[in-house]
Amino acid sequence: MTEFFLRSLLFCVLCVKLTVAFADEGMWVPMFLSKYNEADMQSKGLKLSAEDIYSVNHASLKDAVVQFGGGCTGELISAQGLLLTNHHCGRSRVQSHSTLENNYLENGYWAMKRSEELSNPGLTVTFLVRMEDVTSEVLNNLTSEMTEAERYLIIEKASKALEKKMVEGTHYEAKVKEFFGGNEYYIFITETFKDVRLVGAPPYSIGNFGGDTDNWIWPRHTGDFSLFRIYADSLNRPAEYSPDNVPYKPKKHFEISMRELKEGDFTMVFGFPGRTQEYLTSFAVKQLVEEEDPLKISIREKRLAVMEKAMDSDPQVKLNLTSKYAGISNYYKKYMGESRGLKKVNAVQKKQELEKRFGEWVNADENRKVKYANLLPELENTYNEFAPYNQGMVLYNEAFTTLDFVTYVNSFAKLSELLKSGVKREVLKVEVEKQVKYARSFLKNYNRSVDLESAKNQIKDIIKYMPEILTGKQNKKLNKDSNKYITSLFSTSLLDSLESIAALYELIERRTHYLYPDTIKLENGFGANDLAFQFVSTVTQNFKENIYPNYVKLDIKLDSLNRIYTQALREMQTDKLFYPDANSTLRLSYGKVEGYAPNDSVTYIPFSNLDELIAKENPNDKEFVVPAKLKELYQKKDYGEYAVNGTVPVCFIASNHTTGGNSGSPVLNAQGQLIGTNFDRNWEGTAADVMYDPTQARNISVDIRYTLFIIDKFAGAKYLLDEMKIVK
Ligand code: ARG
Ligand code: GLU
Repeated sequence: MTEFFLRSLLFCVLCVKLTVAFADEGMWVPMFLSKYNEADMQSKGLKLSAEDIYSVNHASLKDAVVQFGGGCTGELISAQGLLLTNHHCGRSRVQSHSTLENNYLENGYWAMKRSEELSNPGLTVTFLVRMEDVTSEVLNNLTSEMTEAERYLIIEKASKALEKKMVEGTHYEAKVKEFFGGNEYYIFITETFKDVRLVGAPPYSIGNFGGDTDNWIWPRHTGDFSLFRIYADSLNRPAEYSPDNVPYKPKKHFEISMRELKEGDFTMVFGFPGRTQEYLTSFAVKQLVEEEDPLKISIREKRLAVMEKAMDSDPQVKLNLTSKYAGISNYYKKYMGESRGLKKVNAVQKKQELEKRFGEWVNADENRKVKYANLLPELENTYNEFAPYNQGMVLYNEAFTTLDFVTYVNSFAKLSELLKSGVKREVLKVEVEKQVKYARSFLKNYNRSVDLESAKNQIKDIIKYMPEILTGKQNKKLNKDSNKYITSLFSTSLLDSLESIAALYELIERRTHYLYPDTIKLENGFGANDLAFQFVSTVTQNFKENIYPNYVKLDIKLDSLNRIYTQALREMQTDKLFYPDANSTLRLSYGKVEGYAPNDSVTYIPFSNLDELIAKENPNDKEFVVPAKLKELYQKKDYGEYAVNGTVPVCFIASNHTTGGNSGSPVLNAQGQLIGTNFDRNWEGTAADVMYDPTQARNISVDIRYTLFIIDKFAGAKYLLDEMKIVK
């Protein structure tokens, strides 16, 4: 045997190993599936072609997937526009239709006929019509001498021109997005529907079973699904809500598989993952794990404790705050899992090893030395410089703007500016009316005591890390008795006028009454003597002047360095197939139904069932209440055709690479049929946003058979199943 042959054999063994090790990592770009993934997917069991999944010439699976409400994914499951997504994706809509008397959030909602489907102003779903690689057009006029700012302007201009050209004369929209940190650019042509109605949602105790205790945890027993319907005009085009609209007829909808699901079965997830950062340096990962995540965790922990106490003591408060609480707690727990997971896989160390190899690769070649020798040291320095501003940004976003009174008080700023610069009486009247309208709606839901308690914690946090953000006078008062000072912010004129909107008119009137000329001008604007207003404006202004500009400046620099680093890594690892970080564009992930071992003594099988759900029941724990009807079905074993081995499947896990935004995504089998709805990941697996570990990363889905069981047997809405194409 020749040495060459031997070597290539060895190489091949290695390359098989490589693809096995990275088998399930990756969020792949639909238009490149045929080029990069088709063969691999088919070798793993896929029975379709890439063209069946994404095609610009005929209906394909992508025509049955939508971005739902901006942050989630949904899938079409009938020829009449019926759409399936998660309960937690539709939750705020269900909440908005609920009152204490008709509490759909708590008890569930099922439209028993079309006329009972509830409209949701502002809710949209977006289809991808097609995508194209426009890298050369976008980067055409760049030169290597350009500054980042110049580069940005040229890219903006080219993108805007393409976005305009590509959809001229249509009702579509177009958006150019960057990939691989700005090394490539693709354009997305989309179609957005605006009349999306609520069809059904299970009670909270099913849709959120296990609550925050089980969130991000496997084994899981949550029926995290809800149903909506897309409506269109008589020509099947998007239209604003109208009673005359008709159910949308999609180009494609998913068949539903009730067939047996086995460990090892091929699966894929088609959806809109939001954000991953797979190509970070060790410096960035270290900052994330040691500084950013812990700070966010500690702020949220206190915020949640305040809310929980209030919710537990008042059912109306509970209804008002449920959705918000779930949102805060969700990422609170995610940050914890992510930090843990990254420590567990030694992410920083692995990145350092890669950087060491990178250094060797650079040093081995003169050209590379010229291009890349300074790259890593510069990245390290910039991350160090960035740290305090990043911390400031986290504090501003997590501890400051999350306080309701801050948002409220800030909304007066425009009025104040107008008054300072002088404003015509008519203009002022319009602005005041707008402000009053806003203040009224704010007041309707404002929970002053929760906000005050949160403010006590959060303002202290802000000052702990950034004392310079207040004036000396404010700091002195705060240091003397922080609770007293913070409470006093809540009991001065502007916030007092919360109690009576009339006071706002009065205040303006009082201050402008004597100034008869047409143009009204107040030296200090509005709220000059108002403690809360002064506090909020000082912090905001300091942030805008001292933190934000530096944050942005360094962030831009980091973007540019990371772009070069990503490109260099791709040059170095020519045998590795790179996928771009998630950026809220449509992606396909594939893997298989697969259990995992979180540690040496525990191994999880990938399926959960109704018997285990019932075993978790605890009527005294609001997160583990089982609705009476479900228990009855269980006791009578009234499972109909949804029974599998004497129970009903509830959730399953698989090794598809997913992230936030993939919620509600269709989970498909080798034939492209729907087997579940993605809604979560296991805790350690969340580290995959930064570093994917094939032994730990699992996505969690509601088994479609549980969804059908709940719709049919629990809700008695079998008529909805008649619309679907169910394969048995
Ligand atoms: N962790 C899932 C996601 O990121 C589910 C969140 C909703 N559930 C909850 N208990 N908060 O969206
Ligand atoms: N629940 C997440 C979402 O809302 C999906 C879980 C994840 O982050 O993977 O998108």
